[in-house]
Amino acid sequence: MDPVKSPQGSACEPPPDVDTDDCLQDYSYLYSPDILKGKVAFVTGGGSGIGFRITEILMRHGCQTVIASRNLQKLTESAKKLSAATGQRCLPLCLDVRQPQSIQSAVDEALKEFSRIDILVNNAAGNFLCPASSLSFNAYKTVIDIDTLGTFNVSKVVYDKWLRDHGGVIVNITATLSYRGHVLQVHAGTAKAAVDAMTKHLAVEWGPNRIRVNSLAPGPISGTEGYRRLGGHHAEASGFHHTIPLLRTGNKTEIAHGVLYLASPLASYVTGTTLVVDGGSWLTSPNDFHSLLDVWATDRKKDK
Ligand code: HXC
Ligand code: NAP
Repeated sequence: MDPVKSPQGSACEPPPDVDTDDCLQDYSYLYSPDILKGKVAFVTGGGSGIGFRITEILMRHGCQTVIASRNLQKLTESAKKLSAATGQRCLPLCLDVRQPQSIQSAVDEALKEFSRIDILVNNAAGNFLCPASSLSFNAYKTVIDIDTLGTFNVSKVVYDKWLRDHGGVIVNITATLSYRGHVLQVHAGTAKAAVDAMTKHLAVEWGPNRIRVNSLAPGPISGTEGYRRLGGHHAEASGFHHTIPLLRTGNKTEIAHGVLYLASPLASYVTGTTLVVDGGSWLTSPNDFHSLLDVWATDRKKDK
């Protein structure tokens, strides 16, 4: 397939991004810079990768934020960078999405600081390549615990403590892995499919409380831990970009823009759905068992 050169500013051209957990050097506004003015967002896993960029883009649109995960030192460094780049407040808080007590304490702390939570982004997740036959019972359970139960735990606490009485928006970051049964991904694929189901259930139950609940499913996103762990660089070297309809990986800002849309009043009638942001990737990805088994075996040798 011959790539067609995109004209400057075409609708398929990616916005600038940086691969590290640092803020963008330049940002050109597409939406009103004030679209989230006065709002507060709680982003799990907001200290790194996709969650970091989501937090930055929300803050660039007037939002104050809480970033919450296990590693407080990393979160504190990220919060400093985010505040310096955007001029908004960012509060780093320690929690494990598997431990309801730690979530309750963090949400109490967030409400003490900001007196509201308008947007919850369930972005925290754990993943690695592993064939089902080699996955221990605990390895499978661990991913389900973080991705699926973690999403429910945080949603329930934020609902009980704020959203039920005030309304708001929940965005769950999921994946397209289950759409075609991606190889070496039974743990993450089933975990994220359950979250997409949870999105629909909660949208239906919580809609009358003026809460919108949606999923956003990214494709392969460069400059992230997920991309590195899932053999992204190996796939890149073997030319897999050419199998993606838009002929490239996505970047973190593109995912953040999807979250911005779902969290903003532009999506005021959108609930219970999954926005796939993957350049069409899941439709055409090779899903190649042997090639990914090679990546897994090589990584395993390196780890020994
Ligand atoms: C097989 C593994 C494994 C691996 C851990 N386990 N890593 N099994 N292959 N590479 C097993 C362990 O042996 C153990 O089982 C069980 O999983 C729990 O491992 P722990 O290390 O005790 O768990 P924990 O400390 O809670 O860490 C969770 C984690 C870790 C998921 C294992 O990797 C983590 O914290 N990840 C967070 C960051 C991350 O994963 N980012 C990428 C998200 S990307 P036993 O039986 O030995 O007790 C993503 C992309 C989705 O989600 C879709 C992309 C297209
Ligand atoms: P990442 O940087 O590793 O993000 C995962 C975050 O989750 C980390 O900040 C981590 O912080 C946090 N976390 C993990 N376990 C946790 C726990 N038990 N409690 C609280 N926080 C926890 O990876 P990423 O690639 O950016 O992934 C972000 C999201 O995008 C995930 O939901 C992932 O499934 C999804 N996704 C990514 C891709 C991709 O190409 N990268 C594709 C599809 C979907 P701590 O270590 O501090 O806890």
